[in-house]
Amino acid sequence: MIYAVIAAGGIGSRMGSELPKQYIKIGGKEIIRYTAEKFSAVKDIDKVIILCPEDWVSFTKELFSDEKITVIRGGKTRNETLMSAIDFIEATDGLDDDTALITHDAVRPFVTTEIIENNIDAVLKFGATGTAIPATDTIFEAYDGAVISSVPDRSRLYQAQTPQCFKALKLRELYESLSDEEKEILTDACKIYTIKGYDVHLVKGDVCNIKITYPHDLIVAEAILKS
Ligand code: CTP
Repeated sequence: MIYAVIAAGGIGSRMGSELPKQYIKIGGKEIIRYTAEKFSAVKDIDKVIILCPEDWVSFTKELFSDEKITVIRGGKTRNETLMSAIDFIEATDGLDDDTALITHDAVRPFVTTEIIENNIDAVLKFGATGTAIPATDTIFEAYDGAVISSVPDRSRLYQAQTPQCFKALKLRELYESLSDEEKEILTDACKIYTIKGYDVHLVKGDVCNIKITYPHDLIVAEAILKS
């Protein structure tokens, strides 16, 4: 089975709004609805699981009448949210080696059907994927935050996006093998694979597949929507 796992468990502190940013409307519609509808429309995806903050579960359920979509509560961190999805699938449908997760940020509403389908093809072939675009800015590394320690070759740098896809059992096995300190610092699920020595296949993203993080991203999002 192939599951879309929509990570909507955050509160959007950098957005600074009362409403978690996934519920802010652009073009008159909640961001999370654009995102979930994109995945629900893909035929190869069997179910869409949205994980949101506990206090927002009933509100979120009311946004969707689509039978393919289930809303449950997320976890304390983004990775814990993904683990909640795996536990839910295990409890409802069971897990096997073929259970694949297409994980995606609820606040990336401009993901395309092509990106989703390319991720599905790649996870079935390679086992794990990360969507990315080539870095456009040069990246400085500064260990102490004051002096540049290195300037990595930009031609080998990519900006991570989502979807990121994994086999559910493997993701949980690798996550559970991490120490508590490692779990704390791992903001990105692909890194769970890379630090354990597993390959993650790159899938081409899109410059418009932005993550809505700060208030100015809402202006950009309205512009992308109009274009
Ligand atoms: N997310 C999640 N569970 C968490 C934390 C984050 O599912 N415990 C989700 C967010 O809802 C978002 C995505 O992960 O769709 C990307 O995270 P980010 O942009 O950092 O969202 P927030 O944590 O909401 O934002 P902030 O860091 O500004 O508080």
